[in-house]
Amino acid sequence: MNFQIRPLQTSTLVGQASEQDLFDANGRLLLEKGKQILPEIQDAIRKNEVYIVTYNRTLNRPRMFLEKDHHQLLNWIKRRYDEINLIHKDYLSKANVILNRVFIEMENGSISFVNLSSLETYDQLTYIHSIDVALLAVVIGIQMGYAQEALYNLALAALLHDWGKLSVPSEILNKPSGLTLSEFGQIKQHPIYGERMLRLGSKLPAEVVKVVRQHHERWDGKGYPDGLKGENIHCNAQIVALADVFDALTEDRPYRRALPPYHALEIIFSGINKSFSPDVVSAFRNCLDIYPENSTVTLNTGEIGIVIAVSLEMPTRPTIRVVYNQQGNVVNEEKILDLRKDLTLSVKAINFNST
Ligand SMILES: [Fe+2]
Repeated sequence: MNFQIRPLQTSTLVGQASEQDLFDANGRLLLEKGKQILPEIQDAIRKNEVYIVTYNRTLNRPRMFLEKDHHQLLNWIKRRYDEINLIHKDYLSKANVILNRVFIEMENGSISFVNLSSLETYDQLTYIHSIDVALLAVVIGIQMGYAQEALYNLALAALLHDWGKLSVPSEILNKPSGLTLSEFGQIKQHPIYGERMLRLGSKLPAEVVKVVRQHHERWDGKGYPDGLKGENIHCNAQIVALADVFDALTEDRPYRRALPPYHALEIIFSGINKSFSPDVVSAFRNCLDIYPENSTVTLNTGEIGIVIAVSLEMPTRPTIRVVYNQQGNVVNEEKILDLRKDLTLSVKAINFNST
């Protein structure tokens, strides 16, 4: 993940179309790019309460090829998630501990012949992506109630899921566009290459190697290399698949720009029962700090209401029952606002503790 949320500094005028997606301090979407700036939004911009997502062209970290680097990179990735308040912080901290333990065992040589530094040297993007995917996968595993040892195997599989890319020429991996069929075919072989390399060259548990092979399988059977369907896909491979796609969507790739986090979330949630297991999507949803049902929110209109529904497809845009109007008076007649339908409405503030 290579984005940051930063205050918007601009003299945008009411009525102008926004040139960017606008967010609140917690990374929740206030206004979509292209929509007209409302007086409330302009007021919030003046008060420095509106943020934009920016993407780092290069990673702001020392380029060292020491084994301790894995720990530093993990901390850097975790800090990025902490900054955007997207994932429950206690899950992130627990996942951080698990992954650091895995790194230490790798450094001690307990997992023979497997050294993440090979990946770092070969392809930096795949190396960073692998640690990011591992952090997300372990967060989901924690939410699903995995025991310590199960989390450890999940972390290992996630860290090594793209190991087979070591056998794909880097000029193909990083080709900006126009892959030939044969090149695309080579990339699609990487789960098989990874399984072979790790089965022969390490003492990894069999389930870890299996997940490496299965991480591009899809719930509806449309994945590769084996076209496995549903529960025939190892549960850890289902988790890694989701983490892999979410991270890929929020990263710049040679062939496209990264998507804003909320947009990536909506793609993930729309993939329920198609690309992804419903249980894993649901666990991922529960890892996120979006809008808990029954929380009280203040809208950009000044109205205060209660979140009565959050859809899986658009969890960033809840349905609200208005309780107080703009003047602070109780609303006696039922007024329901569906933020999925009216994009001029947005949540300005939230009280997570209310019931
Ligand atoms: Fe992959």
